[in-house]
Amino acid sequence: MDFVKLELDGSVATITIDRPKALNALNPQVLSELAEAIAQVAADPALRALILTGAGEKAFVAGADIAAMAAFSMEDAQAFGALGHRVLDSLEALGVPVIAAVNGFALGGGSELALACDLIYASEKAKFGLPEVTLGVIPGFGGTQRLTRLVGRARARELIFTGELIDAAKAKEVGLALEVLAPEQLLPHCRKVAATIAKRGPLAVAKAKQVINAGVELSLVKGNELEQRAFADLFGSEDQKEGMAAFLAKRPAEFKGR
Ligand code: CAA
Repeated sequence: MDFVKLELDGSVATITIDRPKALNALNPQVLSELAEAIAQVAADPALRALILTGAGEKAFVAGADIAAMAAFSMEDAQAFGALGHRVLDSLEALGVPVIAAVNGFALGGGSELALACDLIYASEKAKFGLPEVTLGVIPGFGGTQRLTRLVGRARARELIFTGELIDAAKAKEVGLALEVLAPEQLLPHCRKVAATIAKRGPLAVAKAKQVINAGVELSLVKGNELEQRAFADLFGSEDQKEGMAAFLAKRPAEFKGR
C-alpha cells in the first residue's frame, strides 16, 4: 500500500494515513487502501483495538481530495461518496474499538473519518471542521449524520453551516474530542487506552460497541431489549465464567475471547 500503513503491536493495530504532501487527503486510492487495511484488521481474531492517525506533523486528514473531486460529474460524486461511506461504515462495524488519534487538521472527510471511530483524542495542534460549504458542497462521508448524533443538532448546524474550524479545546468542549493532549503525548495516551481495552473481555467489549451503536438508532425500549439480549448472550461465553471466577478468586482475569 502506498498511502496507508498498518502496524501491529501485540493485540493493538495502528493504521496511519500517510500522504503528507496532500495533508493526507482522501482520494479513491487512499480510501481503497484504507478499506484493505480495515479488512486485514477485521480478519485478525487476536486484535483488541485499533488506533487511526495521520502521518506528519500537520494533518490527521485534511479532507476528501479536492483536486480529485474538482471535475467530478454527479455520477462520479455518487460513486466516491458511496466508497467513502462503505469504508467509514466498515470502520464503525469493526468488532474492536477504534481510537482516532487526531494529530492535526481533521477537516471535512477527515473529521468524518474521526467521527466513524469510537473514541477521539486530539493533540493541542488539532483543528476540526466541516468546511464543505466553503467549496459549494456538503459533508459527503456521513458528517451531517454522525456529527449531529454526537454533538447535537445545534452545534452540528453551526459547524456545518459556517464551515469554520475549531481548535482542540473547543472540540473537547462540544463533545467531539474526549481529551486534548500535548502532541508528543497523543499516541502514548491512545496506546494506553488501547492497552486497557485489550485487557478486558473482548466479547464483552465487542458487544458493548455493537449495542451502543445500534441503540442510538432505536427507541429506548428497543435499545434496552437489545442490551438485555446481549447481556444474556455473554453468559454463554467462557469469558464470563473466567471474569467472574477471577473476581471471586481475587486474581486478574485471563480472557480468551470465547
Ligand atoms: N484535498 C487535496 N489537497 C489538499 C487538501 C485536500 N482536502 N488539503 C490540503 N491539500 C494540499 C494543498 O493543495 C497543498 O498542496 P500543494 O503543496 O501541492 O499546493 C498541500 O496539501 C498543503 O496544503 P496548504 O498549502 O493549503 O497548507 P496550509 O497550511 O496553507 O493550509 C489547510 C492547511 C487549512 C488544511 C488547507 O490545506 C485547507 O483548507 N485544505 C482543505 C480543507 C478542506 O476543505 N477539506 C474538506 C474537503 S471536502 C470533503 O472532505 C468532502 C467530504 O465530506 C467527503
